[in-house]
Amino acid sequence: MKFNKICIVGLGYIGLPTACMFAKAGCDVLGVDINQNVIHTLNNGGLHIHEPGLKEVFERAIDSGKLSFGLQPEQADAFVIAVPTPFYEDKKADMRFVSAAAESILPYLRKGNLVVLESTSPPQITSNLVMPILEKSGLIAGQDFFLAYSPERVLPGQILRELVENARVIGGLTPESAQAGKELYQSFVQGEIILTDSTTAEMVKLMENTYRDVNIAIANEFLRLADRFGINVWEAIQIANLHPRVKILNPGPGVGGHCISVDPWFFVEAAPDIAKLIRTARLVNDSQPSFVVEYVQRILGNLQGKKIAALGLAYKPDVDDLRESPAIEIVHLLEQQGAVVTAYEPFCPDSGCRLSVGTESTLENTLADAELILILVGHTQFKHLDPQELLSKTSARKVLDAVHILGVGWEQSGFQVYALGNGQQLKAVHANN
Ligand SMILES: NC(=O)c1ccc[n+]([C@@H]2O[C@H](COP(=O)([O-])OP(=O)(O)OC[C@H]3O[C@@H](n4cnc5c(N)ncnc54)[C@H](O)[C@@H]3O)[C@@H](O)[C@H]2O)c1
Repeated sequence: MKFNKICIVGLGYIGLPTACMFAKAGCDVLGVDINQNVIHTLNNGGLHIHEPGLKEVFERAIDSGKLSFGLQPEQADAFVIAVPTPFYEDKKADMRFVSAAAESILPYLRKGNLVVLESTSPPQITSNLVMPILEKSGLIAGQDFFLAYSPERVLPGQILRELVENARVIGGLTPESAQAGKELYQSFVQGEIILTDSTTAEMVKLMENTYRDVNIAIANEFLRLADRFGINVWEAIQIANLHPRVKILNPGPGVGGHCISVDPWFFVEAAPDIAKLIRTARLVNDSQPSFVVEYVQRILGNLQGKKIAALGLAYKPDVDDLRESPAIEIVHLLEQQGAVVTAYEPFCPDSGCRLSVGTESTLENTLADAELILILVGHTQFKHLDPQELLSKTSARKVLDAVHILGVGWEQSGFQVYALGNGQQLKAVHANN
């Protein structure tokens, strides 16, 4: 099949880089987003998201004349849907964006077209939600047009490389739909392309993220057990991982982002009678921010009026993505305990108002009169903090490293360093109190 024109619906972390890749491969690409600010920014040559390498690929695609943007789809050979799939307060999947995106392409759908859903979705969404919407056109899925599900599995921070190199799963409503998907993506994908049915492809994506969530949950539970028994979890994990068939992941302050902390709930919703371990793991990871706050209380005592400098708000290192971030949850919980928290997020220095979090746009202002420096995200910038230099910039002499990044030299410089997971230190704190 020949795909001359491709319409990408949703221009976020997934849709925009994907649109650039198709344009780079020589296709005419129309990127569509319902957010007028996004379209305005892109039409003016700007980017609304931060992703390493995106600026260069984006500018080249614009210069080639192959990439344009609009608020509505147009007729095309293929449509790719990459809109958000968040959850409601009650953790049930919110599929309104997917439904609206499918509705939006309905007037432009023609015989022989291919529609691919990339958004992470609960099992059977392609066949039970997207297909009936598209068939309102009068065309039959799998017969008049091709329909496939192809989950995106890239890692933020490495999206451009992984889009090309990762293996890609394409689940077709019919084998012909999967094959059509393969012909679309092989224009830029160099990784293996695996064809299957749409429900298997939906399951694969959810299983990958659920597997990681459950494994992080057990690491977090090990961290709490280590704390209870007065040992350093990092040392224990390092030793346990010497076993040839053990690979314990890193514990931390919680699990965020809008993939791993969201996707397992899709299984819980779809089959609550079966997904019991998955649900428990989610609850363990979701309660980790409370554990960090308890840790801070053990260091500072009553938090009323205590000044804390929180370093990092993103959900993981070196990205500007704040969605479902445990760091933000920790800041809110500390404030509920009366602490006066000032946060610094180098990738989103102006995010404070939006999040109802007190932020400073410089590290210096954040640290100035703090009592505790609380490192919540392992940004490279924080890994390279020089304790000697910081001494004159902050009144804080206590540091809690919640993400296991601080190197040597802090204690010698006069800081009292606590590491989440080092139960030996907290025993000492108990003893001193
Ligand atoms: N971000 C990641 O690293 C990642 C990785 C793998 C999978 N995914 C999945 O990919 C999907 C997209 O994620 P994202 O991170 O790109 O989301 P995002 O929030 O960054 O971007 C989504 C974009 O879609 C737009 N949108 C919403 N409804 C629309 C509609 N009806 N028509 C047109 N545009 C619409 C929004 O305005 C937004 O700009 C989600 O299902 C997500 O779970 C994301």
